[in-house]
Amino acid sequence: MIQFDEQKQIFHLKNNSFSYVIEIARGKYLLHRYWGKALREYRDAAALPAIDRAFSPQPAAYENERTFSLDVLPQEYSGYGHGDFRIPAYKIALADGTEVTEFLYRSHRIFKGKPPLKGLPASYASGQEAMSLEIELADAHAGLKLYLLYTVFEKSAVLVRSARIINESGSAVCLRQLASLSLDFGSHEFERISLYGGHASERMIERSPLHRGIEIIASSRGASSHQHSPFLALVEPAANEAVGDVYGFSLVYSGNFSMETEVEQFGTTRVCVGINPQGFSWLLEPGEDFQSPEAVMVYSAEGLNGMSQTYHAFYREHLLRGKYQNALRPILVNNWEATYFDFDEEKIDAIAKTAAELGMELLVLDDGWFGKRNDDNSSLGDWIVDQKKLPQGLTALGEKVHAHGLQFGLWFEPEMVSVDSELYRKHPEWALQVPGYKTSFGRHQLVLDLSRQDVCDYIVDAVVKVLESAPIDYVKWDMNRHMTEVGSTLLSAKRQGETAHRYMLGLYDVLERITQKFPDILFESCSGGGGRFDAGMLYYMPQTWTSDNTDAICRLKIQYGTSLVFPPITMGAHVSVTPNHQVGRLTPMQTRAFAAMGGDFGYELDICQLTDAEKTAVKKHIKLYKRLRPTLQLGTFRRLLSPFNGGETAWMFTHPDKSQVVVFYFKELAQPAPSVRVLKLAGLDKDARYKVAEYYEPERLSHDFGGEKASGITGLEFYGDELMFSGLAVEHVDADFISYMWVLEKQI
Ligand code: GLA
Repeated sequence: MIQFDEQKQIFHLKNNSFSYVIEIARGKYLLHRYWGKALREYRDAAALPAIDRAFSPQPAAYENERTFSLDVLPQEYSGYGHGDFRIPAYKIALADGTEVTEFLYRSHRIFKGKPPLKGLPASYASGQEAMSLEIELADAHAGLKLYLLYTVFEKSAVLVRSARIINESGSAVCLRQLASLSLDFGSHEFERISLYGGHASERMIERSPLHRGIEIIASSRGASSHQHSPFLALVEPAANEAVGDVYGFSLVYSGNFSMETEVEQFGTTRVCVGINPQGFSWLLEPGEDFQSPEAVMVYSAEGLNGMSQTYHAFYREHLLRGKYQNALRPILVNNWEATYFDFDEEKIDAIAKTAAELGMELLVLDDGWFGKRNDDNSSLGDWIVDQKKLPQGLTALGEKVHAHGLQFGLWFEPEMVSVDSELYRKHPEWALQVPGYKTSFGRHQLVLDLSRQDVCDYIVDAVVKVLESAPIDYVKWDMNRHMTEVGSTLLSAKRQGETAHRYMLGLYDVLERITQKFPDILFESCSGGGGRFDAGMLYYMPQTWTSDNTDAICRLKIQYGTSLVFPPITMGAHVSVTPNHQVGRLTPMQTRAFAAMGGDFGYELDICQLTDAEKTAVKKHIKLYKRLRPTLQLGTFRRLLSPFNGGETAWMFTHPDKSQVVVFYFKELAQPAPSVRVLKLAGLDKDARYKVAEYYEPERLSHDFGGEKASGITGLEFYGDELMFSGLAVEHVDADFISYMWVLEKQI
């Protein structure tokens, strides 16, 4: 899987799905030569041209070779200060104040398996599943060493990269940037796809041509953010969901990141991905090292669905961990949109009782159970049950919930502190702050300084205490503001630029300690919905609350965008009340249920207020979901029609053993003179017959809750080729926000 051609000085990293080629030029410079479809052998048919380019300087040793310049050579990890004027992958200020460094190839080693990354979440593999290459580079003058780590997985079109730097000099240096990866494509014939958004509107898809110059998506908010996801794809312009070359980049990190592209004068494209250099610096004392987060690169020759399927399988098999990695996730009911802060034991018990009657499996008690938290002004940090609301405490409540036959879950926001809290009164120095400036607020709260060990220990103790005190099966771990005045009361003046990354290292350590201590608890991360939906958090917590927006129609876009990188089993998705609390929309119950079945299904409304007809519908949906759950949570997900291209969405799930296929179609607004919609399915066995075992036609707003309808199509059988190439007709119905579902069973 990783070959080194001694004579040609070429590394060929490959498996059946892709090849990646690095050359050591002149015994010292690392050049990027190829990434794409798997090659039998790389013999350099696309040799680099020797052109004397004006204003492209030669390194000192090649003064007389005017065609040799770092300015034009495709770099594998771009340097700084020796004639490559494009974006650098690293920047280091030496003790003498200069920032020029030069890392040259020194040695390499190829080995089985994949080492963990110190203090950071990362993909994992056994010795049989993966092979790694570590390239050592050195700057002899500066006394620094740089290690580039690559891992190829045998069964996945994934290449994983990271970088580590060690200071072996006698004096301290200041690291200003250390990208997880950079590489140069030979052309700019790509479009770029990224996921932008805001609170309640996460991971909208942006696709645009690559422009000359530098383009950047980034977060400097202290979290991977709602505003941009740590994901970027470069795709050939003709690529769509089903066909075309796609190159994906996803960062296993939950803090400030940047993903840059640069199209330069000769039409090549550099990509650089890593921790955001803005606001970052790191003092490296002699003997110290710094590890970058890991970037997961996917090549797909089969369009965006190909890329997403690779990410989904890879993250499920090599990133998620623990009991719930492959376990079916429970159907939950969360009291947030049902009660907000206004609840008591009786109310929660009533919700639990109704939930059990309806077939739900887990009750989650959200914000407001601790301190004196009757609104969002106080008590974060004081993780002690509010006896006024829950006089018998959490233990009794948990037992009551269990007695109804449900699991019991609890909300926390451990990284925060309210100014009105016992914790803040005792430890004002524990909040992030910068001397001389008043601290900005977000939701009346401050961010605890997780770069401090004492703060991390406090959080672990406080959360562990609660988790040990009551029968808790699930935790929702929230984070509801971004960082401002980023500084630490403990770090020295020279280390203040380390605060944000040290916070992430502290958080990862806290999460590791807590999740390892409670291996049976299902953890769901959250940050005002999907503000920290990233591969870093998924390493600790195998699902994320996708968005605070529970409107089914908005959710189609949010879940569609999220699915570019993350599998449905990682996305929390709930049915909420109508009119919806975020956008006021009225949607049929079936549409709300079918949209939520695109993720980990749950409910978030006052189920005690449902009418009998609604309760009947909810029961049916729950029964249906339980029956289809293995396919919906563990199966292969494919996007068919994009909500970003008009008012229609379609996606489908195929059971891991391919025996069952579930197809969903959603239509937003009814149109006059409607066009005819035929759905072309994907990924079927073209020679197999599929029986339409169940069909759910649209339900209009006010009647017919959730019934399975007798229809001409139920019971019919079609060959896979017909369903994929000719397609499945969508029956025309005049109504807004409608949804359909087909369950197909493969005949043997
Ligand atoms: C965030 C979460 C919500 C809810 C509230 C509680 O906004 O995303 O789901 O838990 O906090 O304050």
